[in-house]
Amino acid sequence: MNKQHVPIIVGNWKATPATLKEATAFIKKLDKKCIASKIKLPKKAYYLAVPEIFIPHIKDIIHSGYVGSETVSGTTVGQVTGTTTPSMLMSAGADFVIIGHSEVRAAGEGEQERMYKVSFALMAKIPTILCVGEKARDKEGKYLQELEADVRQSLSLVSRDLLSNLIIAYEPVWAIGAKEPATAKECFEVVITLRRALATIASIDYAKKVHILYGGSVSTENAVQFIEEGGVDGLLLGRASQNVDTFFDIITECYTK
Ligand code: PGA
Repeated sequence: MNKQHVPIIVGNWKATPATLKEATAFIKKLDKKCIASKIKLPKKAYYLAVPEIFIPHIKDIIHSGYVGSETVSGTTVGQVTGTTTPSMLMSAGADFVIIGHSEVRAAGEGEQERMYKVSFALMAKIPTILCVGEKARDKEGKYLQELEADVRQSLSLVSRDLLSNLIIAYEPVWAIGAKEPATAKECFEVVITLRRALATIASIDYAKKVHILYGGSVSTENAVQFIEEGGVDGLLLGRASQNVDTFFDIITECYTK
């Protein structure tokens, strides 16, 4: 991890919990634990992406973290049915958005749509976590080129002066919802590739500063290893963020290091 960075620990609730009541109880319990923590945590110690309908309610009660959206539309305000723009999410309380999660891609998000999503979100100046990750690896390392091309394309409509709100999450698709995560070494190699790509898109200075996260089967057993050896500045957790105790343990472990 870059020594000047504080870790960014992001939860992705996906389609959980089933009710607003459960969501509220979760946040209250988590915040209580953060406030009582023996490890000194910053005022905002976690990021939590939630189903967008929960955002305004959570925004009203959340104390120790930021609340965000799991996706956003690639449109601006206007005659488009069934969609939520970055400005709407922000006015409803979202502190950040995730774009390009592999499950959203699998549900039909196209390349062009993603380009618009990233561009409109960054134009709205909302912190944006762009997920990239290979479906499978090959011995020749072609997946590294594909990842680089993905980042380049996703950012192709974004002007350089808007890149300060960008966070990249490396999420190998094969490691999401799986039994095994990537290894810290595999992660490190990709982080270097991503920083190299960002250096040519923006500048070396920018590439050094941008936060890169790892996501895919992160648990209490492996979380710290990614921060210490995987070269990332934080984590994106799926299942591990859906349990208050596990999420809290990972947050505190990452701030202990
Ligand atoms: P997982 O999900 O931690 O449950 O593997 C990660 C993600 O989908 O971002």
